[in-house]
Amino acid sequence: MLQHRGTDQKVVAQWLQRYGNWQNLSELEQSASEAVAELRRTRWRRSAEGPLRDRCEAALDTLLLTDQPEYLDMPDFDPERRVGIIDALHRFNRWVFAYHRFYRILKPLIQKRYLEQGRTVRVLELASGSGAFALMLARQAQRDGLDVAVTGSDYFPEHVEACRLKSAAEASTVTFRVLNAFDLSELPKGAFDLVVVTQSIHHFSPGQLALMIHQSLRVASMAFVGIDGQRSLGLYAVVPTAGVLMRSADFIHDSVITLRKFYTETELELIGRLAARTHDVDVRTAWPAYSVLTVSAA
Ligand SMILES: C[S@@+](CC[C@H](N)C(=O)[O-])C[C@H]1O[C@@H](n2cnc3c(N)ncnc32)[C@H](O)[C@@H]1O
Repeated sequence: MLQHRGTDQKVVAQWLQRYGNWQNLSELEQSASEAVAELRRTRWRRSAEGPLRDRCEAALDTLLLTDQPEYLDMPDFDPERRVGIIDALHRFNRWVFAYHRFYRILKPLIQKRYLEQGRTVRVLELASGSGAFALMLARQAQRDGLDVAVTGSDYFPEHVEACRLKSAAEASTVTFRVLNAFDLSELPKGAFDLVVVTQSIHHFSPGQLALMIHQSLRVASMAFVGIDGQRSLGLYAVVPTAGVLMRSADFIHDSVITLRKFYTETELELIGRLAARTHDVDVRTAWPAYSVLTVSAA
């Protein structure tokens, strides 16, 4: 429910033709945002051509979709409360074994690269937040005999500073830096093998996400992998309840908005294909409730 596959999948090729002719980054940003906006705007009308289920899904989603910002997205939001939300998210991630799920999604790519190239696999994580996944990735890869160098990053210096302290405390090799996920111009071409972003792409507009993917593929020679929650009704039962258990009103506020902002898998495919016209784009569902967008060199 809420994926609109029946209504949206059949128009992806047409939308790619209409919006795929961008010439520079600012046109890409605009094209991706307009493409997703039009997909959403015309969904209700298109759903009339399908079964009643498509119509109900479109109607329900019209009520749920929102542009409301999360606290995490407000530049002037109290830094201490921002860190509190990131801490609550980290506890939630541990509670649902999210980091293990993310590692299992990435491991085949890391393994493939390591076996092909026989050298350290360089991974850049964007929007790392607590940094716990970057640290866990490095630890787990080492246990699995994979040679991996992990760099974490985030837009907000207070998160990066906290991550550096955690990395030093556990004598980890993971380094952290301040980076804006949709402006990677300071990074050299091919500096990494993989660029990864977890549970963050719903924070970005379709245009910003397209910029992030496009620039990631200059910086990473193998692939961009974006993992986010799956747009679905089921999560409305789980995530706010978890927020109550985490005892964080700010986390509940942000997690409910998050659920309303998750992209559908068709939207992710459309954005990925617009951003990377010559790459392979794969979108799939990962149990229990994640969507995974992988854009890789063809
Ligand atoms: C929901 S948290 C996800 C954190 C972490 N990846 C996780 O899975 O727990 C979103 C993160 O995106 C970061 N963020 C927001 N805008 C950003 C931007 N433009 N560039 C880089 N990071 C950004 C926030 O600071 C926050 O740490």
